Amino acid sequence: MRTVQVETGGGSYPIIIGREVFPSLADRLPPGIRKVLLVSDGNVFPLFGDSLARTLAEAGLMVKPYVVDPGEKSKTLRVAEALYTVALEAGLGRGDLVAALGGGVAGDLAGFVAATYMRGVAFLQVPTTLLAQVDSSVGGKVGVNHPLGKNLIGAFHQPVLVAADLATLDTLPRREFLAGAAEVVKYGAALSEPFLRFLEQNWEGFMGGDHSVLAEVVATCCRLKAEVVARDERETGERALLNFGHTLGHALEAATGYSHYLHGEAVTVGMVLDTLIAREMKVLPAGEADRLLALLYRLGLRPPPPGLDAGPALAALRFDKKRAGGSAVFILPVRAGAARVFGGVEESLAAGVLAGYLDGHLGEER
Ligand SMILES: NC(=O)c1ccc[n+]([C@@H]2O[C@H](COP(=O)([O-])OP(=O)(O)OC[C@H]3O[C@@H](n4cnc5c(N)ncnc54)[C@H](O)[C@@H]3O)[C@@H](O)[C@H]2O)c1
Ligand SMILES: [Zn+2]
Repeated sequence: MRTVQVETGGGSYPIIIGREVFPSLADRLPPGIRKVLLVSDGNVFPLFGDSLARTLAEAGLMVKPYVVDPGEKSKTLRVAEALYTVALEAGLGRGDLVAALGGGVAGDLAGFVAATYMRGVAFLQVPTTLLAQVDSSVGGKVGVNHPLGKNLIGAFHQPVLVAADLATLDTLPRREFLAGAAEVVKYGAALSEPFLRFLEQNWEGFMGGDHSVLAEVVATCCRLKAEVVARDERETGERALLNFGHTLGHALEAATGYSHYLHGEAVTVGMVLDTLIAREMKVLPAGEADRLLALLYRLGLRPPPPGLDAGPALAALRFDKKRAGGSAVFILPVRAGAARVFGGVEESLAAGVLAGYLDGHLGEER
């Protein structure tokens, strides 16, 4: 079992990564907890819920499970309110615990409830998607969606422990696995050349779900994100580098009503387009661009929906720009394994690479 220690202004906590992490989990929780609200979704709870509940119950905790519908539609204030009610009725107190078992949806929702219930109770993350293990469970951002936009209502609330069991990834649908892999490649491409090289050299093992490769992948991504978050907990500077691929990725997600792409699929396209922009702006040497593109194309590019033109995506880009205070912020690679924040990217450049993708002229379409 591997451990990555995360240091933040809000405290320090371990991420434990390996197989069969559940049995050692209760020992690592802070003392004094009597009750647990266990939040999961309807796909994940039948797979791992009993096993986690049993572990917690064997440690003497009273476990109250609550299962939400799978998917983004459960990340709402309405569902959070239902969880407050369950917690109150179960007598959950200030010294008790909210646990999330599932992907980023369960984590963000349960974390938001933990951050706000009685002004904040302890929070345990048991992430079961690749995306949640390498990204959403690290960093302390929790929240729900609003009808006017995603993730607009939220808080920073660090967990007391993150327990990532690699065996949970065995049941993850392929498309979800690949979407999580996009964030993995992002860490290598934007932050670490040695990790990028590890991915290039161990790609088959990674894609095949080899647990020893996955252990290294999850631990390294958590360490990289933890280092960035420790230096920039509230996202004022360096943390922005984690948004490589996300500017145009978000624009494509928004332009398609969040229904065509999984988040990671849009990020893969965004990373390809950012790489092309960086090459065109001559901030990234051509050889380095080729290296990044080769790895990104191995993830596969989801084709756009038929008939989509660049207009809606550019409109979404302008909307984001306005919200960010007027300047379009792009995270562009400057070499394989390093990225920088760029403020003044011409819209025509973005429009050009977008059109190339939308016209089907890019890479090896899946
Ligand atoms: N807090 C953050 O810093 C942060 C960062 C990135 C993303 N997010 C959020 O994370 C969410 C996306 O997370 P996600 O991709 O994990 O989505 P998700 O939680 O919806 O999980 C994806 C799907 O996989 C299923 N599933 C989960 N684990 C499984 C398993 N082990 N076996 C079989 N099926 C399984 C789920 O039921 C769901 O249908 C979004 O809401 C996004 O906003 C948050
Ligand atoms: Zn992302």
